[in-house]
Amino acid sequence: MRSKLPHIGTTIFTIMSKMAQEEGAINLSQGFPGFGADPELLDMVAKYTKAGYNQYAPMSGIPSLREKMAEKTLRCYGAKVNPETEVSIVSGATEAIFSSITAMIHPGDEAIILEPAYDSYEPAILLSGGIPIRVPLNSSDFSVDWERVKNSITFKTKLIVINSPHNPSGYVWTQDDLDQLAELVRERNIYVVSDEVYEHITFDGRPHLSLVGHEELRQKSFVCGSFGKTFHVTGWKLGYCIAPEKLTEEFRKIHQYVTFSSVTFLQYTLAEYLEKPERYESIPGFYQEKRDLFLTGLKDTGLEFQATQGSFFQTASYGHLSKIGDRELAEKMTKELKVACIPVSSFYHNQKDDKIIRFCFAKENSDLEEALVRLKNLGELFKK
Ligand SMILES: Cc1ncc(COP(=O)(O)O)c(C=O)c1O
Repeated sequence: MRSKLPHIGTTIFTIMSKMAQEEGAINLSQGFPGFGADPELLDMVAKYTKAGYNQYAPMSGIPSLREKMAEKTLRCYGAKVNPETEVSIVSGATEAIFSSITAMIHPGDEAIILEPAYDSYEPAILLSGGIPIRVPLNSSDFSVDWERVKNSITFKTKLIVINSPHNPSGYVWTQDDLDQLAELVRERNIYVVSDEVYEHITFDGRPHLSLVGHEELRQKSFVCGSFGKTFHVTGWKLGYCIAPEKLTEEFRKIHQYVTFSSVTFLQYTLAEYLEKPERYESIPGFYQEKRDLFLTGLKDTGLEFQATQGSFFQTASYGHLSKIGDRELAEKMTKELKVACIPVSSFYHNQKDDKIIRFCFAKENSDLEEALVRLKNLGELFKK
């Protein structure tokens, strides 16, 4: 049998979570919350499943959830979208990204991804016969090197995949970033897949600038989001895609043969839950407290870092302390310190190792505090 993805193995997130479990380590590796969701949300799940909302939902999502998403998009980003023709509910941002890329990429098309990059973009490009063109972000702060992006565009470029707030670095795009992107795609046959799963997790008053709020970019963009990330229920695998009508038509042609539709009672639950905007507007404050708690302790570990701007990830570098590879360090930390993290080299196609590790701080404060106590002994690992 000839593999369609010969170079792709098990993701690092699965590997590190498994190791954390086997070693009894505090798992600050994979990006999922270590605390429960709002009990009100869970009560609604019970209500809607008992009420019989257990058969197939409409292919594009139930109307009331699409309408709520249109209201939320207007409220958060000042953008009016048509819930009927521009909003689709799908099985997680992973599906939204996969279906968007599949809808756009034909064999031989080039798609630009900015590295370090979340791992689901490249396989989707490859499966459609596309060619991933990897452009590195600036190594100092993970901002976009616009000159390099521009120089990577050819007559074959069809798509640019972007991600803000960024996983793993937490970099949040500025208005200038959006304007630079708009200039690049203007008058070119280039579209954008915008992974915005951390849209509600930004810090220090920094706004998330969605592409749907940019008059020009929204005409050419698939904006992909995740209810799982926003409401601490990653296991629900429910997400959405907002795109102009013509793009949505193509998107739905793929979606209907990937999953057809997504869990019905969860859609009803979310439609009701979204009635109160404070439920998503309180999220930045909630996570900022966790970020600040984590950073206060991280200062005593010897690691170097800049406070993350968004997402629930914090990166830290250790190159000034040791030359050990980041994968080896992550493994040692899990086995000896009992704290698991993710080596950032796994976000590069060539495993480029800049001696940076990523922590997820979406955990109970008590777990974060205990992890910080253990991390104070990090220096001991480097002596061995
Ligand atoms: C940047 C990024 N995009 C997409 C996803 C997947 O989101 P979902 O669980 O809704 O499929 C994740 C999950 O870790 C992520 O970090």
